Amino acid sequence: MSSFLEIAVSVAREAGALQMDHLGGFLQVEYKGEKNLVTKVDKACEKLITDRIQGAFPEHDFLGEEGGGIRKHSDYKWIVDPLDGTTNYAHGYPLFCVSIALEHKGEIILGVVFEPNRNELFFAEKGKGSFVGEKRLKVSPHATLKESLLATGFAYNINSTNDNNLDHFSSIIRAAQAVRRDGVAAVDLCYVAAGRYDGFWELNLFPWDVAAGLLILREAGGTVTDFAGEPFSPYDKKILATNGSIHQAMLNLLQKR
Ligand code: IPD
Ligand code: CA
Ligand code: CA
Repeated sequence: MSSFLEIAVSVAREAGALQMDHLGGFLQVEYKGEKNLVTKVDKACEKLITDRIQGAFPEHDFLGEEGGGIRKHSDYKWIVDPLDGTTNYAHGYPLFCVSIALEHKGEIILGVVFEPNRNELFFAEKGKGSFVGEKRLKVSPHATLKESLLATGFAYNINSTNDNNLDHFSSIIRAAQAVRRDGVAAVDLCYVAAGRYDGFWELNLFPWDVAAGLLILREAGGTVTDFAGEPFSPYDKKILATNGSIHQAMLNLLQKR
């Protein structure tokens, strides 16, 4: 295990433990937007992760959802969602996670997603495969939408844009076996990597939502593009992430208006 991975895993587990300690407690909920919550636990987790990573790698850049932007003009940048699934968390719905990625010269080289309720640790390093615990991950073999369990999400700006995914949802739910909306993009990507979902799409996510999960999925044999079928960067706004076999069928539906 590289020292990067060691630090990322250990701090992800610590942040997950902090989340479990405060679950159901007083969370000091604030609103960043009409539907976009932040709790004291999001902030405490980001501080914990920033302090630990900055302590270990003081020369690296850092991008965290809760305002943690540190630019040192390094080739390395940590991209962190301290608590993905905040709305779930604030309601005591037990699906949320910590997501930590490391980018090197514009390429994601490490991803760690820790889901503390199930004590599931997903991780990958570029070129070395991806794992949940000790088990190697592999995408599902399903080749048709009819057999596919898919996931999607709806961004917080659903009321202020027409590009709100309701049109795609309406067509894809008719073609798929079923569609879920779990509210945790990082876990959605890991579940495609694990073959639990066959595909996932969403609009208007941020780099911290997807950076770790997309490497975990790619290393499990999955395909990640934008809705035009072009290679996806974590800074893009439209993500289609699948087992590969249903990718073209999903693109066909996403491109239809
Ligand atoms: C959210 C989750 C959710 C997605 C939202 C994200 P947060 O992140 O990943 O699944 O639908 O668009 O913003 O706010 O819980 O970290
Ligand atoms: Ca998030
Ligand atoms: Ca978050």
